[in-house]
Amino acid sequence: MSQESLIKAFKVVLADTYTLYLKTQNYHWHVKGPSFQSLHLLFESQYQSLAEAVDTIAERILTMGGSAPATFKEFLTLTTLKEGETSLSADRMVRELVVDQETILKSLATALAAAQKTGDEGSIALLGERIAEHEKNRWMLASSI
Ligand SMILES: [Fe+2]
Repeated sequence: MSQESLIKAFKVVLADTYTLYLKTQNYHWHVKGPSFQSLHLLFESQYQSLAEAVDTIAERILTMGGSAPATFKEFLTLTTLKEGETSLSADRMVRELVVDQETILKSLATALAAAQKTGDEGSIALLGERIAEHEKNRWMLASSI
């Protein structure tokens, strides 16, 4: 696996992270029902962290000599996630976000495998942190169903 494959895998991770950032913020805005307050805050803490991750991932791509996708058009072409729907029930929103954590974990696993093949320790460390965060997000979301 080449450096080029690693950069390509990182671009998918960036598109997934940006899409999940927007989707989590969408649900922060539109969640309704008796659990509004707790879910509104849970989604907020997750989207804020995702926004920081977007910057870190994009700058890793640039560090590797790649170009970071930076338009909604590119993100929609690259992402493995589906965009959010504002009309879902709170329960459906949480269930979707649980599945989304699993989906992004798959993209991260692909990128990690590519980083391990090229022995890129910096990328391995960054991807390991991203994996741990999405595993934690999945747990927190699943625990609130
Ligand atoms: Fe807010």
